[in-house]
Amino acid sequence: MFSSAIKGVGHYVPSRVITNEYLTQFMDTSHDWIVERTGIHERRFFTEGVDTVSNMGTKAAQMACERANITIDQIDLIIFATLSPDYFFPGPGVLVQRELKLKNIPALDIRQQCAGFLYGLSIADQYIKTGLYKTVLLIGSEIQSNMMELSNRGRNTAVIFGDGAGALVIQRAEDESKVLSTHVYADGTNAEELYMPNPGSSRATRLTNEMLTDGSLLPVMNGQAVFKEATTKMPAAVLEALEHNGFTTEDLDLLIPHQANLRIAQMVQKQLGLRNDQVFNNIQKYGNTTAASIPIALSEAWEQGLVKKGGLIAFTAFGSGFVWGSALVRF
Ligand SMILES: CC(C)(COP(=O)(O)OP(=O)(O)OC[C@H]1O[C@@H](n2cnc3c(N)ncnc32)[C@H](O)[C@@H]1OP(=O)(O)O)[C@@H](O)C(=O)NCCC(=O)NCCS
Repeated sequence: MFSSAIKGVGHYVPSRVITNEYLTQFMDTSHDWIVERTGIHERRFFTEGVDTVSNMGTKAAQMACERANITIDQIDLIIFATLSPDYFFPGPGVLVQRELKLKNIPALDIRQQCAGFLYGLSIADQYIKTGLYKTVLLIGSEIQSNMMELSNRGRNTAVIFGDGAGALVIQRAEDESKVLSTHVYADGTNAEELYMPNPGSSRATRLTNEMLTDGSLLPVMNGQAVFKEATTKMPAAVLEALEHNGFTTEDLDLLIPHQANLRIAQMVQKQLGLRNDQVFNNIQKYGNTTAASIPIALSEAWEQGLVKKGGLIAFTAFGSGFVWGSALVRF
């Protein structure tokens, strides 16, 4: 059986920087409240006519291919994770395929929200292990700024989420550098603790005039329930990955947690007993970019020289569903 390895990573974020101070024009909040509860200082919002989920994903993918030193035509499969596709259908995978001028390869769209990257990595890993594909492009990209409302009723989510894209080139491993394991889970019991009900297909009329004004088009989040579950499931998933491979937290060079909230990441760090230099966070600059958050963070860690040959890096995520998991990678 073959193994897979992460060969390149790239990211793209829209140029429009939205500070906490900017948000105070539209809702009762403050820079200090947002920083204290979430750690976020600023995030990026897309510009209509410039950024789309698929074109941001394509830009991140091009950077990942350059860094992996591969040509675009080597890609055998595209996996695209997002909760905010350009169109209701088809998904953005085929739009990236078109932009990259790739013909007759499969494009798979997945959701899995904040765990989209981990699920995508686990799928890529399985396809490479069986030998069916050699090179997989995994993209996580989101435009969430236009799904939130900059208002008092929207403030619990509006201060958290941002836009951006990250991408990975995953290839058949040729040496010790490999994906050691992926563990992904779901528990739909709490699906409605973080969800976006409308416009949904279960109603006779998907979109009504009332929905445009009554707030029912906004995401619904029970912040405390999410916080509690995330801080339990994420450290457990990291420990599972380490134990599965015969390692302890001391062996870990870097943990890149999904950038949900800095306080969640700090609690995960504390529960695992990790030093500050063992955990990478960049939510301060980008907010929570859902499926894009881990690949954006990995790309920045890569740029900062933190992803070293032979380094042991863990990823963990938790999100709407609830879905969660971990991956352990030898670089
Ligand atoms: C959302 C979150 C920051 C709220 O923090 P919290 O300490 O749980 O705050 P609460 O929800 O208890 O709300 C406390 C108060 O702040 C208010 N509040 C909510 N959003 C606010 C904002 N942006 N600015 C100021 N006040 C706000 C609430 O209305 C509430 O007011 P009340 O006490 O008068 O009712 C926090 O629950 C959280 O980060 N949860 C995880 C969310 C997450 O990570 N989601 C993504 C998962 S992938």
